[in-house]
Amino acid sequence: MSDPREKSREETRLFGLAPRYWLIVLAALIVFVAVLAFGVTALLVDIFEKKQEARDPFFRVVELTDDTTDPAVWGKNFPQQYDAYLRTVDMQRTRYGGSEAMPRTPTDVDPRSVVAQSKLEEDPRLKAMWAGYAFAKDFREERGHAYMLEDQTFTERQRVVQQPGTCVHCHASVYTAYKRLGNGDLFKGFEALNKMKYQDARKEVEHPVACIDCHDPKTMQLRITRPAFIEGIRAAKAAEGIEDYDVNAAATRQEMRAYVCAQCHVEYYFKGEEKRLVYPWSKGLKADEILAYYDETGFKDWTHARTGAACLKAQHPEFETWSQGVHSRAGVACADCHMPYERVGAVKISDHHVRSPLLNIAHACQTCHRVPEDELRSRAETIQGRNFEMRNRTMDALTELIGDIEKAKAGGADDERLAAPRDFQRKAQFLMDFVEAENSMGFHASQESARVMNESLDLVRKGQLALRD
Ligand code: HEC
Ligand code: HEC
Ligand code: HEC
Ligand code: HEC
Ligand code: HEC
Repeated sequence: MSDPREKSREETRLFGLAPRYWLIVLAALIVFVAVLAFGVTALLVDIFEKKQEARDPFFRVVELTDDTTDPAVWGKNFPQQYDAYLRTVDMQRTRYGGSEAMPRTPTDVDPRSVVAQSKLEEDPRLKAMWAGYAFAKDFREERGHAYMLEDQTFTERQRVVQQPGTCVHCHASVYTAYKRLGNGDLFKGFEALNKMKYQDARKEVEHPVACIDCHDPKTMQLRITRPAFIEGIRAAKAAEGIEDYDVNAAATRQEMRAYVCAQCHVEYYFKGEEKRLVYPWSKGLKADEILAYYDETGFKDWTHARTGAACLKAQHPEFETWSQGVHSRAGVACADCHMPYERVGAVKISDHHVRSPLLNIAHACQTCHRVPEDELRSRAETIQGRNFEMRNRTMDALTELIGDIEKAKAGGADDERLAAPRDFQRKAQFLMDFVEAENSMGFHASQESARVMNESLDLVRKGQLALRD
């Protein structure tokens, strides 16, 4: 006979399990669900983190704000970019570029023990071209970004004339200084600093170009911080028929990879009593369009000491020249060649050691051109060699025109008689200087550089003819 209690136990079995096992099953179930939940959460977290990483691949050690100027602080979050940035102190020559370390004895007024080589010593004809201007005193090869502030502070050009605060726009991390002096308004700060004496403006800045000048501290996206470029590119776009261009809102990422450099590597002048920094692009970016702008506004940098011509000094028009070349046309930006990607472990980072790409052909060129390194260097140097030859011939011709005008002046020719030859000198010299001052020795746009020199040579010829009749 079966025990009735057995029966009741029998009935209370669940899925054939006696009640004493229920607890074990329940516990196992709870553990299972917990493990499952943990697994799913971990997976979700992982996916989320990967997504975050793709959007924002940075591990933050310190909080960066829109007032963090010191690049060493940014370097805590981005050690690789910072280390490369510091290497811009390196000095290494290439055939036509780079820079050579020249030892010098420090003095009280200039404590530098190493400077870049003098361009005036390399080519004394430059002194004839700039007679009467500060550039005829001291003009050197440019070197790495690490030196920009000290080279500007101690150039002899500071001692022959009183320079304005405007100079620091392109030689220092000036973004927070502008905001501070403008009470939060970048443009007001810009205007305040422009008007100062250089020595006073210099006290407002501390670092060469730094992370904050090119990056938004929250997103690390590229951004434009320089008022003169914001205004200049708006004028250039208006010349193309695009009104009210707002660079930070409208530029594509690839455009930004050139524009951040174009904040400084451009032709410029100081406008009016306020010494406002202006990029003269309202007629376009080409050398002759810029010359037409200066002719229309009647601007001159100085009066030539030997001929009396109202002269212009062209300065580092890398952006304008690049914009006329085949690489720009193909969408290749400054950063593609001067800050190429390199692989570090699983990530691709941009090489912040900004320098001559010919010192880094493997990363700078061979990603696009599957050609041996020596062949690529040779192609670049062939372009540069031809440009150098044209430059020398044009420079000789210009030097002759300067000599001819000087002779006519000494022989009693009056201002009226000299007006046309002087104007030809002004124009020929600016175009010649536009190619000379551009730092790629023709590489950025070889055909355009040749065209501009050809125009210069023609103006020299017309100047000499004008002296004859
Ligand atoms: C297709 C590649 C390429 C692009 C794009 C490019 N450059 Fe260059 N750049 C070069 C080469 C090559 C040289 C010559 C370097 C040399 O002679 O050592 C050069 C030279 C220079 C120099 C002088 C460097 C030195 O060491 O003397 C500066 C400054 C410069 N470029 C700035 C710019 C800026 C600014 C832009 C964008 C507006 C730009 N480059 C776009 C390839 C490029
Ligand atoms: C629009 C930006 C800009 C402004 C404004 C500017 N610079 Fe520069 N400067 C540059 C760039 C870019 C270079 C590097 C290319 C070169 O040397 O051609 C440079 C190079 C230099 C150098 C090193 C090479 C040399 O010429 O001996 C000195 C010194 C210098 N600048 C002084 C000054 C002084 C002084 C002022 C004010 C009168 C000034 N800069 C204003 C952009 C600028
Ligand atoms: C705030 C202004 C500023 C910005 C922005 C800037 N540069 Fe420069 N750059 C300079 C000055 C000034 C020098 C010359 C420093 C000196 O000679 O002391 C220079 C020098 C250089 C050199 C010569 C380096 C060498 O070793 O000879 C190269 C190449 C260069 N810049 C490329 C670039 C590129 C590419 C960008 C954009 C990614 C850029 N620069 C952004 C002002 C600037
Ligand atoms: C003259 C402008 C300039 C300065 C100064 C500058 N960067 Fe950059 N940086 C760039 C450019 C251009 C890129 C490429 C961005 C792109 O392709 O969208 C970049 C990219 C980056 C990135 C994204 C990852 C990568 O490497 O491509 C980080 C992080 C970064 N920079 C950190 C820094 C830090 C830290 C400093 C200061 C030590 C600094 N940058 C200074 C121009 C600059
Ligand atoms: C992001 C890609 C890219 C990079 C980086 C690049 N190039 Fe180019 N290069 C091009 C393209 C695209 C053309 C145009 C070719 C065409 O459309 O047929 C070109 C054209 C040229 C030409 C022929 C045009 C001329 O000016 O005579 C030379 C030479 C050249 N590149 C050399 C170089 C060198 C040297 C470097 C490195 C400093 C370099 N390129 C970096 C893409 C690149």
